[in-house]
Amino acid sequence: MKAAVWHGPRDVRVDKVEDPKIQAATDAVIKVTSSAICGSDLHLYEILSPFMTEGDILGHEPMGIVEEVGPEVTHIAPGDRVVIPFNISCGHCWMCDRQLFAQCETTQNREEEKGASLFGYTKMYGQVPGGQAEYLRVPQAQFGPIKVPEGPPDDRFLYLSDVLPTSWQAVEYAAIPEGGSVAVFGLGPIGQMTARIAAHRGARAIGVDLVPERLALAEKHGIETLNLEEHDDVSETIREMTEGRGTDAAIDAVGMEAHGAPVGEFAQKAAGLLPDAVAEKLIEKAAIDRMSALYACFDTVRRGGTVSISGVYGGMVDPIPMFQLFDKGVQLRMGQAHVKRWTDEIMPLVSDDADPLGTEDLASHKIGIDEVPDAYEKFQKKEDGAIKFVIQP
Ligand SMILES: NC(=O)c1ccc[n+]([C@@H]2O[C@H](COP(=O)([O-])OP(=O)(O)OC[C@H]3O[C@@H](n4cnc5c(N)ncnc54)[C@H](O)[C@@H]3O)[C@@H](O)[C@H]2O)c1
Ligand SMILES: [Zn+2]
Ligand SMILES: [Zn+2]
Repeated sequence: MKAAVWHGPRDVRVDKVEDPKIQAATDAVIKVTSSAICGSDLHLYEILSPFMTEGDILGHEPMGIVEEVGPEVTHIAPGDRVVIPFNISCGHCWMCDRQLFAQCETTQNREEEKGASLFGYTKMYGQVPGGQAEYLRVPQAQFGPIKVPEGPPDDRFLYLSDVLPTSWQAVEYAAIPEGGSVAVFGLGPIGQMTARIAAHRGARAIGVDLVPERLALAEKHGIETLNLEEHDDVSETIREMTEGRGTDAAIDAVGMEAHGAPVGEFAQKAAGLLPDAVAEKLIEKAAIDRMSALYACFDTVRRGGTVSISGVYGGMVDPIPMFQLFDKGVQLRMGQAHVKRWTDEIMPLVSDDADPLGTEDLASHKIGIDEVPDAYEKFQKKEDGAIKFVIQP
């Protein structure tokens, strides 16, 4: 089959690789019909290269048709239409019993001191071949795959794999009071859906980004927006919009590659030039993240409010303004999305013919598998109106 394979920093190619096979009684194999590229893949494309291995198959946002199942997989059968959550969880361990699926103890990566395995996401997270491919082996398929109805287009359900549950969790963790307000930093796919979900649930959502077409898409969905580049101090602007207090919650949907953090950017570039073994230590033990979006969240949230972080960070000693957080009395929540914790709540919205979350206009590009290398480049540079690439292999 063909698959998107990582060969080096900014070097993704489409290779012919072996078709995946059932290896365990709890496996399934699916034929991929749609598979998205995520902002998280961009971290692997360059900054997190030291954790990648040449030959890794990328991708963690797939859906498709079941080809084959192992004997212990009974809730799905060949021919079923399924979405695959990005975290691989067993559904029956101590963590899964508490719906903390991103921390599943069956697939946890203890040697790496990391949580549950993820599709296509480095040796830290199990080095499981990913879903930007024609076929995908799904471990723990007795639990993971979500059966979806026939009929509506893939776009309706595809984002149940990551974008929608991540955004839903970001809003849950933000603990916005009834009729309250939230500032969403970053209007990539995660920020778009986070702002839409917050608004759908009755909050006033203010989105911040610096890419014109991303701001325009948010506005189309009724979100108030601020262009970072048009405000010297965006947090001050938001305070002015909220009776001087700031928003009840702030959500970081940007992560470690934020714009406007020159020191972090220098550290990331420097790490990229080092041998992998040294760079791995540097990234995990040092302050390597670009922190500007997170600092803006701390500044924007009102006293006694909540900051919810869905953007991915990887540094160990990133400087945190403890005085500011303590004095303002800020709650902080973060982490990988516990995908299946939220999908039952989201399902009625994506199944609704009115498509209230606007899933069908998120993808800016639909591409064949051969166009993947070009797509990564455009997505990283935010060229050609790139917001979300969906591969239809
Ligand atoms: N927690 C999870 O489970 C989970 C799941 C999926 C994605 N993520 C993470 O969420 C983040 C967003 O993902 P995405 O797919 O939307 O990525 P993306 O790269 O498409 O979007 C990030 C957006 O942030 C904007 N931005 C950059 N600097 C900014 C700043 N200082 N202030 C405001 N906006 C700024 C960019 O212009 C871009 O539009 C990434 O870090 C990704 O890894 C986390
Ligand atoms: Zn993703
Ligand atoms: Zn588990």
